Amino acid sequence: MMRSRRLLPIVVACGVVFVAVGLTLGWFESAPKRVQLRPDDAALTARGEQVYREHCASCHGARLEGQPDWRARGPDGLLPAPPHDATGHTWHHPDEVLFRLTKNGVGVLIGQPGYKTAMPAYAGILTDDEILAVLSWIKSKWSPELRRRHDEMNARAATAR
Ligand code: HEC
Repeated sequence: MMRSRRLLPIVVACGVVFVAVGLTLGWFESAPKRVQLRPDDAALTARGEQVYREHCASCHGARLEGQPDWRARGPDGLLPAPPHDATGHTWHHPDEVLFRLTKNGVGVLIGQPGYKTAMPAYAGILTDDEILAVLSWIKSKWSPELRRRHDEMNARAATAR
């Protein structure tokens, strides 16, 4: 009895440390309950543009154009960064998929943690709000027609759940 009472705080402390470390390193596939991009929220997209310039533009291009020949794997076997404009397929994915991909990485998203890619996972680098902001800014750059089609796809993804 004495023993277990002395052990309990240690067990609890270990649990807390495990969860804290796990959250920081993104061990747990975590996304807010319902992710919804807000391309019309000017304050959010202004923040998103800063995040994009700082963290994404070097690969995905200052004008969202991606890297040249982005469909073909390079000599290192890795894919170049695809565009985020109408010519790419970022807009083919619902909000939640874009969010999880950016936060947890491609490998976790597709269930292959060893998947080799140049795309970083941003858990622990960007906050959830910053990820929402940058993806909202990207969407704000799409044409009204593309945004409408993306909205429709989101609605379909929501009812499929
Ligand atoms: C070091 C280069 C690099 C940086 C920096 C980078 N990416 Fe990527 N990104 C890639 C590559 C490469 C892919 C293709 C993934 C693959 O290998 O399958 C990709 C794919 C993506 C996709 C999926 C696109 C699609 O067509 O399905 C999204 C969304 C994305 N990146 C968002 C971001 C965001 C947001 C940032 C900044 C916070 C960012 N990326 C920073 C290289 C990068």
